[in-house]
Formats: sequence, C-alpha cells, structure tokens
Amino acid sequence: MENNVLISAKGLKKYFPVSSFLGGKKKYIRAVDDIDLEIYKGETFGLVGESGCGKSTLGKTLIRMYEPTAGKIYYKGEDITDRKSNKIKSVKNSMQIIFQDPYSSLNPFWNVEEILSEPLKNLKIKKSDMYERIKLILNKVGMSEYDLIKFPYEFSGGQRQRIGIARALLVNPEFIMCDEPIAALDVSIQAQVVNMLQDLQKEFGLTYLFTAHDLSMVRYISNRIGVMYLGSLVEIANSKSLFKKPLHPYTKALLSAVPSPDPSKKNIKEKVKISGEVSQVFTDSNACRFAPRCIYKTKICEKECPKLRDIEGGHRVACHNAESINS
Ligand SMILES: Nc1ncnc2c1ncn2[C@@H]1O[C@H](COP(=O)(O)OP(=O)(O)O)[C@@H](O)[C@H]1O
Ligand SMILES: [Mg+2]
Repeated sequence: MENNVLISAKGLKKYFPVSSFLGGKKKYIRAVDDIDLEIYKGETFGLVGESGCGKSTLGKTLIRMYEPTAGKIYYKGEDITDRKSNKIKSVKNSMQIIFQDPYSSLNPFWNVEEILSEPLKNLKIKKSDMYERIKLILNKVGMSEYDLIKFPYEFSGGQRQRIGIARALLVNPEFIMCDEPIAALDVSIQAQVVNMLQDLQKEFGLTYLFTAHDLSMVRYISNRIGVMYLGSLVEIANSKSLFKKPLHPYTKALLSAVPSPDPSKKNIKEKVKISGEVSQVFTDSNACRFAPRCIYKTKICEKECPKLRDIEGGHRVACHNAESINS
C-alpha cells in the first residue's frame, strides 16, 4: 500500500492565534492537532465531525492553502511542507478544492468565462486551446458554452457548484479537497452533484478528500472514513467497518444520530448519548479531547491524550478504553 499513498501528513498541526483584548498569555485555537494521515491514490477519504472540529482546516493545510504550524506534508512521497520549495510549484495544480458555498467562492463581478479562464492563465497555453479546454470541462459538469457569458447570480445553487467543480478540474488535478460540497445545496440536487463527482473521479482518476458534518452521504461515497473531534482524528476505518462496528465513543454517538435508511433493519443498535458540551478548542491540557463528554472515561483519559492505534486490520481508534468498551 505504501506506494499507493498520494498525500500524507505526519504530526500535522495548524493553530490559529486568538487575540485577547485583555492581553495576557497568548492563546491558540488548535484547529488541527498532531494528525497523521495517508490518503491513497484513487480513493475517496471521507472526513466527518461536528462543525468547527477542523475538517476544512485539515484539508486546506494539506493542499497548502494554509501554512502548517508544525508537522510534515508529503505528496507522492515528496516533502511539500516548505512553502518556498520548488516541489510545491510543480504540485500546486495537482491539488484543488471545491468549496462548501459556491456563491461566496465565485467572484460575483466575473462571468463564467472569466472565472474559468483565471486558473489557466499561468499555464502558458494558447487562447484557442484554453477556450476548448473550458468548453470541454463545462460539458463534463453538465453545463454549456452558452453559460460562459452569464454571471454567478444567474445560476441556481447546484449550477454554481458545477462551475466551482469545473474550475477545480480545469488544471488537471489529481487530488481534490471537496469541502462539504453539497452542504449548501437543496436535498433534491445533492445526489446529482455527488453522482457527478463520482463519475468525474472515475473518468479522471481523481482522489478525493470529502468532508461532511452529516454522515448519510459520506457513507456511500467513501472508501475510508476519518472521524474528527476537536482537531484530532479519533477513528479511521473503511466505510463498511466504521458503520458496522464503530469503536470510539464519539463515533458511536455520531452514528446513532444518523437515521437508518431501512427502518426494519436496526443497523444501529444502541442510541449512544454524549453528555456535556464541546470543550474549548484552545485548551492546553493533555487530556483526551473527548473526555469531558465521554461516559466511559477513566483516570488515564484525564492525563493522556490517546494516539490512534490499529485494533483490527487497519481499523484505527484513539481511545484508551477501546477494548473494554467494545468487548
Ligand atoms: N482562518 C481562521 N482563523 C482563525 N480561526 C479559524 C480559522 N479557520 C478556522 N478557525 C477555527 O478553527 C476551528 C476549526 O475550524 P474549521 O476547520 O473551519 O472546522 P470545520 O470545517 O470542521 O467546521 C474552529 O474553531 C474555527 O473557528
Ligand atoms: Mg468546514
């Protein structure tokens, strides 16, 4: 599997400073805190967790939109952590992003032709080739060249997202961070956009990091899923194992909130409750981040943040008590 890793992170951290009016010790939001992750070529890696847990920050740091605070990022085994390295230039187009809100991510004063020409400008290609490329990709996302003279406000949410997808595809990427790409869309068109993303993935051999705060769609499109809680990955498994046998108390709680598509099948046996509230993300403590809300916590959970460990065949969980909870 090693050679199949497209993008990976080691000990990746992204902290945001929090300004305080009263001065005092500088605080940081630990949006991404010590994450190890590999994403394999051609897979869809789903990343789930409540709003604010750090999904977007992790994805944007991986594709080098954000500077990491610490840790390393590798693309096809090459270190791309240093912003000034030449390697970054050569892989920059290979990593693209589709944003959650297509309206705010498209310049409202530009028509579609201007929006789609922009990413191609640095590629030094002939104007006629550029136009052909734009037409081709527009067709791939179900739009036409007649849309080129229109402005973002003239489209529906779904169409705007298609334009956002086209913009990401234009430069021939290999990896696309799909940042909650359907969250802002009507339920009726969510499936269309997801199906299209899957078709494009097959056709262009794309690898996806697909984030979502609700699990229903992610389940069907992801090969593997990572569950994030306050800046950390608490569980990684293939989609099937995760839903069949979630190991982390937080994953259990998340899954128990997902309605079963088939009411006759009780695929989620127990309703797991989490108590308490999301603790502050700028904590300095070494405790397990989930401990304040965990009904299974023991002494060690207050002292030591658990690391991800393989429990069975690649199903990894960061919980001191995973065995006793799941026996
Ligand atoms: N540019 C930023 N500056 C400061 N704080 C940020 C910034 N982006 C995200 N955050 C904070 O980092 C945490 C994680 O945010 P985010 O990655 O957007 O979570 P998610 O995508 O899971 O909803 C949140 O507490 C958020 O407020
Ligand atoms: Mg987000």
